[in-house]
Amino acid sequence: MKTLISICLLFILSQPAISQHIIPTPANIYFTSKGTYTFQSAEQIYITDSILLNEAKELQSILKKRVNCNSEIIFTNQSKTQNIALSIQPDFPEPEGYLLTVTPKRINISGRTASGIFYGIQTFNQLLIEDGSQLHHSTLPCLKIEDAPRYGYRALMLDPARHFIPMQDVKRFIDIMSLYKFNVLQIHLTDDQGWRIEINAYPELTRKGAFRNNKTGNQGPHNGFYTQEELRQLVAYAASKHIEIIPELDIPGHTVAAIKAYPQLGCRHLDSIPISLGKTADRTLCAAKEEVYSFYSHILKEVNEIFPSKRIHLGGDEAVIEKNWGHCPDCQKLMQTQGYTKTSEIMGYFFGRIHEIVRQNGKELMLWCELDNIRMPAHSFLFSYPKDCTLFTWRMGLTPKAIELTEQAGIQLIASPGEHCYFDYPQYKGDLPEFNNWGMPLLTLKQAYDWDPGYGLPADKQKHIIGVAGLLWGEAMQDINRITYMAYPRALALAETGWSTMKNRNWETFKTHLPPHLLNLMREGINFRVPFEIYQKN
Ligand code: ACM
Ligand code: ZN
Repeated sequence: MKTLISICLLFILSQPAISQHIIPTPANIYFTSKGTYTFQSAEQIYITDSILLNEAKELQSILKKRVNCNSEIIFTNQSKTQNIALSIQPDFPEPEGYLLTVTPKRINISGRTASGIFYGIQTFNQLLIEDGSQLHHSTLPCLKIEDAPRYGYRALMLDPARHFIPMQDVKRFIDIMSLYKFNVLQIHLTDDQGWRIEINAYPELTRKGAFRNNKTGNQGPHNGFYTQEELRQLVAYAASKHIEIIPELDIPGHTVAAIKAYPQLGCRHLDSIPISLGKTADRTLCAAKEEVYSFYSHILKEVNEIFPSKRIHLGGDEAVIEKNWGHCPDCQKLMQTQGYTKTSEIMGYFFGRIHEIVRQNGKELMLWCELDNIRMPAHSFLFSYPKDCTLFTWRMGLTPKAIELTEQAGIQLIASPGEHCYFDYPQYKGDLPEFNNWGMPLLTLKQAYDWDPGYGLPADKQKHIIGVAGLLWGEAMQDINRITYMAYPRALALAETGWSTMKNRNWETFKTHLPPHLLNLMREGINFRVPFEIYQKN
């Protein structure tokens, strides 16, 4: 009888808990005993390896904030010491996975890499986020959490090209991302409305391209740019939070700011049309001018010296090619010499040249996937991407097709479809933003959550999908408070989509996990939209 009770107890205790509010939901949570760990007024954090110093400091600040306890960091080569320990386990199966255990005597976080341990620390951080009844915890229940992400690429994108985002606001944005285990921030540095990165070889890019006419529509900080030194500091700051910064310089369309600064980059038949920075003017780089390729070769060299990421995003979306290449005498001549019959074929030539420069710099090219040659022929080119690029699926309704075509072509894909990942779309009927670009459709919190990036496909048909990205285009977002309002809580849904397996995801459970996180965002001074509709009784 005693044995039977013990077996039942063990069974109950080792069931994954359903009541924790961790976002994204971990792979497995077990309550291992009825005991608790009681925090002391001073704690020691033991680390086995000096590469964990950054993680130990992260934990130190969490302990101060959530438990109000001071802690010291101690190096040790024996991992069985009491108190709190962080340890690298080289044989841990998943590179970003971790194991968090809490017993009455010890809290231990281990993983194969510092990233895995950092994510374990963020889970620990969330265990200490309370529902409002108390600000400082004194205990944690004994438990064991085994966890690892579904996808290795979990991104958000900011767009300081449309409305400039001061550096300290980008860093605050990174802080919140790191709590939810995002690991990439894509930063859209150049577009029609602004050029935001200092380039030493071409000072006019920021002297003219970062300062726009404020009578052209939007409100907010139009003007400004990041110096190379500021961007280096940003990269280091993000790295300390295990976030990779991927720069995006959009070409050949979305280049009005560059053409305003250096008019020779555009197709010459449009030279006489004045450019008012701030307005979209349907201009592209001229594909036939050698100067365009040498210009971007210099730029990419400088960009590469700032950003250590092996990836660079060069856009490739929405280029208005007929108005530019279709009527440019130089581009028409290029078509003849290349034997092309359609203007869209020039896109293959253009990115063939650019991709070579990217390869020479030892980088991997990322592009927005354009395959919509049915609905928007002028904006598209044939699906002829090289195998060694990574594409983003984004146009509404086209993601299943993009998944199929990239799978057949052997190309890696990141899923950021408009209908689930465009967080600049309004999130409730009649809600912000103040103006709705192109009459954008609703993207409710539920719709952001109700999404399998693999669309239930067999494993071999979705294994080329390497991750997800939530996009915050900046036309209608004038400052960081509006950006976080649009991002949260939908980015919490995406964090779970990118990390948790489908079997661990459930909308009703997610709804119950949200409130302590919203309260925490409020305590951090982060603006977000209250998703009242999901709690309203009909
Ligand atoms: C895009 O939304 N133009 C990628
Ligand atoms: Zn041209």
